[in-house]
Amino acid sequence: MPIFNHKGLKETVKEKYGQAALRVHTGGSSCCGAAAALDGCCDPITANLYDAAQTGLLPEEAVQTSLGCGNPTALATLNRGETVLDLGSGGGIDVLLSARRVGPTGKAYGLDMTDEMLALARENQRKAGVGNAEFLKGEIENIPLPDKSVDVIISNCVINLSTDKDRVLREAFRVLKPGGRFAVSDVVTRGEVPAEVRQNMLLWVGCIAGALEDSEYVAKLAEAGFEAINIETMRIYDIQDARALLSGQGIDVDALAPQVQGKFLSAFVRAVKPSLEQ
Ligand SMILES: C[S@@+](CC[C@H](N)C(=O)[O-])C[C@H]1O[C@@H](n2cnc3c(N)ncnc32)[C@H](O)[C@@H]1O
Repeated sequence: MPIFNHKGLKETVKEKYGQAALRVHTGGSSCCGAAAALDGCCDPITANLYDAAQTGLLPEEAVQTSLGCGNPTALATLNRGETVLDLGSGGGIDVLLSARRVGPTGKAYGLDMTDEMLALARENQRKAGVGNAEFLKGEIENIPLPDKSVDVIISNCVINLSTDKDRVLREAFRVLKPGGRFAVSDVVTRGEVPAEVRQNMLLWVGCIAGALEDSEYVAKLAEAGFEAINIETMRIYDIQDARALLSGQGIDVDALAPQVQGKFLSAFVRAVKPSLEQ
């Protein structure tokens, strides 16, 4: 675990994603990934996540503001009438897609700590004409919803940004109804990652340095009380991706890219809250 000042890191995450949200208004593209939250270039993490059938349902701006590393709404089971919560909803793309899936008798909440992102999400909601969605301000470590109030938790490339992942998973467990589903896209690691990468704050902001090792993710979910835990690999970042992810972060890309290739994955993480609580 890198030695970061947790409060400072959270403020840095907020500042960088606030800037990413504002770039949408100034016409720049904004993507997640190491370089993305910082200079707005496209990168291997966020590219080509949604198909035309999904993006066609949304305003162009909502699609452009996607900063995720997967497509949780395509992979999660969402039923009509259910309540969905998206942890770290950003510009709101997954909330708006979920709201359409659960229909008018259901509800989709987005939770984000960054004011600029919340403003962007609400603007995207208005343009999309989606009534059954609501964006809440708050932190994923302290979810502002009651116990047992949510059927499905989704998230797209956000839990890796938290400095207290145990707490996020405990909070997710608390707000889920018994039998509720955790269905999250996230970056995870497999094998040893160089300390230089782990300790780089900008790589943390870019969803890389804070990523959990897959086995650690499983252990933390089990510790929080989840069962039926499964991690599915969706995309493995290769050497070219590693170069793109590491470049411009003040580290020796040539030396580190070969040590990083194949160790970062975009994964879909599923788990269930037991129906009968012990
Ligand atoms: C990589 S972006 C992903 C946004 C969105 N899920 C998507 O797929 O486009 C991360 C988002 O999570 C938010 N975020 C990061 N850490 C957070 C925390 N601890 N609590 C609440 N929101 C957080 C940021 O403000 C940002 O909007």
